[in-house]
Formats: sequence, C-alpha cells, structure tokens
Amino acid sequence: MAKFFILIGPPGAGKGTQAKIVAEKHGLVHISSGDLFRENLKNQTELGKQAQGYISRGELVPDDLTIRMVRERISRPDCQKGALLDGFPRTPAQADALAGMLKEFDSKVELVPLIEVPTEILIERLSGRWTCRAQGHVFHEKFNPPQKTGICDFDGSELYQREDDQKATVVNRIKVYSEQTAPLIEYYNSRKLLVRIDGTKSIEQVTKELLSVIEKV
Ligand code: AP5
Ligand code: MG
Repeated sequence: MAKFFILIGPPGAGKGTQAKIVAEKHGLVHISSGDLFRENLKNQTELGKQAQGYISRGELVPDDLTIRMVRERISRPDCQKGALLDGFPRTPAQADALAGMLKEFDSKVELVPLIEVPTEILIERLSGRWTCRAQGHVFHEKFNPPQKTGICDFDGSELYQREDDQKATVVNRIKVYSEQTAPLIEYYNSRKLLVRIDGTKSIEQVTKELLSVIEKV
C-alpha cells in the first residue's frame, strides 16, 4: 500500500529543506504545493494566473483550486508508492479532501510530523533564503550557504529570492498559518498521527529526528 506523509509547520520551518532529503532517502515523491503553484506562475498557466494574487499577498489560494491541483499530482503513476507532502493540506477542508482522495487509491496518511520553530527565527530564515529556479532547492545565506553564491549546488540553476519572502508578506503568512493551518495540529493529533519535531536544531539534527519517526511506520 502506498505511504503518504505530511510535513506541517509554519513558513520557514524547514519543510522544503527536509522534504527533499527525506523523500530521497525513502524513495518517496516530494510534493510541495508551493512549488507546484510557482511552476504554474512561471509558465503563466490559467491556474498560475488565478493563484498569483493570493501568493504575492501571502494568503492561501482557495481550497477548490488547491485541491484540484494536488489531486492531479497525486494521481500520477510516480506516486504509487506514496509521497511526502509539503505545504498541503493547509486547512481542515483540504485535509478532509486528502483523506477522501487517498481512500480512492486504497491508501491513507501514515504520519504527520509537525516542525515547530518560533516566529523570530522564522523571519530570519526567510529573509536570508535563496531558492533554486529549476527545482525549488533551498539555501540560506548564513545557515546553509550554496558553494557558489547565486548558483544551486544540486542542479546549477540560478538562485533567487521569493517575492513572498519580503518582511511584510512573511508576517502575513505567519498570521495566516496560525489562523487557518494551526487547526490541523489538533485535527491530526486527535487522529493519533501527529508527531512534534523541534525545528530549531541544525538541519542535520532535524533530518535525523524525521528519519527516525518515519522509519517506525
Ligand atoms: P509554500 O511554498 O508552501 O511556503 P510556506 O509554507 O510559507 O513555507 P516555506 O516554503 O516558506 O518554508 P519551508 O518550511 O519550506 O522552509 P524552507 O525549508 O524553505 O507556499 C507559498 C504560498 O503558496 C502560500 O503562501 C500560499 O499562497 C500558496 N499555497 C501553498 N500551498 C497552499 C495550500 N495548501 N493551500 C493554499 N495555498 C497554498 O527553509 C526556510 C529557510 O530556512 C531556508 O533558507 C533554509 O535554508 C533555512 N533552514 C531550514 N532549516 C533550517 C535549520 N534547521 N536551521 C537553520 N536554517 C534552516
Ligand atoms: Mg517550502
């Protein structure tokens, strides 16, 4: 049966950083709803155009658009063994929709690691983040610098600063997380799927903890 894991945590908690490493170690597909939206923005698809305003304001894209996009991604053959979801679900309605679609594929959510990091640290992490244009690899000018400034270590593509990483937008994204996504903590806790991870530790230490909880499943 396919195994699905969900990483939750506020903006800048390290979901993308960890998902790339952990998915590769476990042969899982990494699905980042944010990366999917950014791909659509780059290609100026209809979905990209509809999502653009929400993303640049740091608001959530409406559930129906988001669910449709993720559903299409999860239906692809490479997800037959499962996937590590990063940034989806982000509302209880999305979580219900996910449970429904996984049921159709005779599958379910196995575990939901929550990466916890206090707000002051999140702001510092996002203001120094550099993201790879090709595949969304992430670096930090101080905490995880690339070998060559402005170039991705993994695929040689250009690194850029996300438009929504400006301070005012970051503050709004954190607020949106506490209002609209934090209810998922109780949602998954009551289903005995939540496990808390201290995201203030080093990238390597957080990876170690995540691998250890995932391996137990
Ligand atoms: P999305 O792309 O998902 O952004 P996010 O949730 O705000 O999360 P981030 O990508 O900013 O942070 P992260 O946790 O991945 O941290 P990272 O690993 O990069 O979503 C963007 C937008 O798309 C949303 O605002 C919304 O509009 C829309 N959207 C997406 N999904 C949606 C959904 N489901 N529903 C509706 N709308 C949706 O790390 C951050 C930085 O910290 C990096 O520089 C990294 O190098 C550094 N770092 C990481 N770990 C550590 C560590 N342990 N120590 C020191 N530095 C670290
Ligand atoms: Mg991310």
